[in-house]
Amino acid sequence: MNSRLTPDGMRRIADEFRERYQPGRVRGLLVAGSGLSLEVPGWESAEEIYLNEVFPFNIHTLMGHQQTLTLWRRGDETLMVLNGRFHLYQGYRPEEVVAPVRLAGLLGAEVMIATNATGALVPEIEAGSMVIITDHLNLQGANPLVGEWGREFGPQFPDMSEVYDGELRRAARPAAEDAGFTVHEGVYAAMLGPSFETPAEVRMLRALGGSVVGMSTVPEVIAARHMGMKVLVLSFAANPAAGLVDRPLTHTEVLEEGEKAAAKLAKLMGLLVGRVFI
Ligand code: HPA
Repeated sequence: MNSRLTPDGMRRIADEFRERYQPGRVRGLLVAGSGLSLEVPGWESAEEIYLNEVFPFNIHTLMGHQQTLTLWRRGDETLMVLNGRFHLYQGYRPEEVVAPVRLAGLLGAEVMIATNATGALVPEIEAGSMVIITDHLNLQGANPLVGEWGREFGPQFPDMSEVYDGELRRAARPAAEDAGFTVHEGVYAAMLGPSFETPAEVRMLRALGGSVVGMSTVPEVIAARHMGMKVLVLSFAANPAAGLVDRPLTHTEVLEEGEKAAAKLAKLMGLLVGRVFI
């Protein structure tokens, strides 16, 4: 399967998904960079769906792992959990990157909660801490609403003055603290990647008001807000950004920090799901 996604195609995908999986009342979408193990009283992991069975475009496997969507159910309610997102730097088109968000939105999801790994742009944000995102800088040179997509599913010029929901942010802080994280608030600077930033770029991003830098999430956030969903983004600070410490940055370092925090992140998401989707 490798065909160009269109808004009508997206609607058909949602109709077929509804028919096949009977999701009932879809409460929200959780997006995680890697697999997310959740434990939430009342919710049960019901199905794991391969994304290449849902979407018509070519999906690369990541280091041998299939990307999946897990449906968590509680009675007639469903939570969709995306295990492994699509990135622009992998070569996906913006409409492909946000296809899971649009699917959730078309099925009625009211909330999107996304996590990601970032580099800290300021010394106050230490590696291993959690940053509740308050705003973003879209420096990816792409927007999922370009072209026909901006006229479908929402307003062509959606307001972005309050992207990150205040109530969700207030719920996130105690959940992150209870899970054992040091918590900060900050601005997410989105770069295309996949090369890490240069020290000059890191100085630029800091001068622009960025707190953390990453290569994901902003397309999904824009599409979710376009469809009227409430958005929460939690950025794990995996490393000090380039130039802040005197050593080269590696993907291994980012992955290792993430693995160290995986149990805490699972706890945080479990607490949050329990408190948000009452
Ligand atoms: N830069 C960009 N993306 C990242 C980083 C970084 O330093 N760390 C984790 N994701």
